[in-house]
Amino acid sequence: MVAILAASGWLGVMQQVKGVVARGKGQPVELTTINVPDPGPGEALVQVQACGVCHTDLHYREGGINDDFPFLLGHEAAGVVEAVGDGVTAVAPGDFVVLNWRAVCGDCRACDRGEPWYCFATHNATQKMTLAEGPDAGTELSPALGIGAFAEKTLVAAGQCTKVDPSARAAAVGLLGCGVMAGIGAAINTGAVTRGKSVAVIGCGGVGVAAVAGSVLAGASPVIAVDIDPGKLEAAKRMGATHTVDSSATDGDMGVVAAIQELTGGFGADVVIEAVGRPETWKQAFYARDLAGTVVLVGVPTPDMKVPDIPLIDVFGRGGSLKSSWYGDCLPSRDFPMLVDLYQQGRLDLDAFVTEEVGIGDVEAAFEKMHHGGVLRSVVVL
Ligand SMILES: NC(=O)c1ccc[n+]([C@@H]2O[C@H](COP(=O)([O-])OP(=O)(O)OC[C@H]3O[C@@H](n4cnc5c(N)ncnc54)[C@H](O)[C@@H]3O)[C@@H](O)[C@H]2O)c1
Ligand SMILES: [Zn+2]
Ligand SMILES: [Zn+2]
Repeated sequence: MVAILAASGWLGVMQQVKGVVARGKGQPVELTTINVPDPGPGEALVQVQACGVCHTDLHYREGGINDDFPFLLGHEAAGVVEAVGDGVTAVAPGDFVVLNWRAVCGDCRACDRGEPWYCFATHNATQKMTLAEGPDAGTELSPALGIGAFAEKTLVAAGQCTKVDPSARAAAVGLLGCGVMAGIGAAINTGAVTRGKSVAVIGCGGVGVAAVAGSVLAGASPVIAVDIDPGKLEAAKRMGATHTVDSSATDGDMGVVAAIQELTGGFGADVVIEAVGRPETWKQAFYARDLAGTVVLVGVPTPDMKVPDIPLIDVFGRGGSLKSSWYGDCLPSRDFPMLVDLYQQGRLDLDAFVTEEVGIGDVEAAFEKMHHGGVLRSVVVL
């Protein structure tokens, strides 16, 4: 433990641990030493046990989210609370928690109107973690999605810790902290998928396969999985997809649309979930849904991407709704314990998302595997 006299004269205590940092746009990530302050009021220090590698971490490294380098990456994690600051009552040292990036504030305009899953003022830790070595030691880190969990320990707002059944496997339930919740929620919460609805999911990485799992849980049929990687289609099938479409083998954008229509009585799906984050796949989703159907965009585009060129009359004429799904419109306190229970009962196979467990030094290699090799999630285990 190191005592630090800050410029303000406040005597803070912090620990030095290993963490995975992205220092600059497109540069390989680096395992380095970081300073993690002891928790202040409203904060919690968490010993990370497992953290999945999400495509959003790669977006951060590529400068696709913002330019606030250096980033402390990692945000789909489970661990044990080590210490809490003043005023924290909801969690205590020793609690097993899944970290979330939606610690709702309770009094923004979204919370006030009873829609806390849109909360516009979510809580993060107030104190900053910093670089501990190198010429830029002392530089404040931007934790990915306010979490930063490719680290032995991380500092978060106490509300970012959701208590779940401590007998659950950390590598599996940690995935509820982002991608798996985003996918399940995109189907059930944002897309309002219910029994008997037809669903197509375009892009079957961790998020898309979770959207398949969510649709299956809700009783949808058919559930059509679309990807360009046959390995991902196999994973989607194992999770209950009733049909698969290899869109690398179809004839352009409209070939994908035709394949989905053919599997839905010629009409298109009631709900099409886009889990890639690209204009061309969003366009496929737009045309692959039935009249008055719903498109859910859960894939995250980069800032340079534009809405595809679609005649406005088609937007009007096809009706329905075009929605975005932020974190599956989830409420962590409501949804995480419920989904962990379904996992423990054998009704939601979270283990199937864990393709491999890797070390904290293997994040860069995990990014590489995202582009090929049928990996749903590489999970860093500490
Ligand atoms: N909205 C949210 O809250 C939220 C949360 C987490 C992740 N995300 C985003 O969701 C997206 C998916 O994340 P992931 O972790 O599953 O990524 P991933 O890289 O594991 O999966 C992406 C999948 O898309 C497939 N794909 C790529 N191009 C395609 C195409 N033209 N047609 C069909 N499939 C194609 C890939 O083969 C891969 O299987 C990312 O953009 C990520 O940033 C969003
Ligand atoms: Zn709020
Ligand atoms: Zn994520």
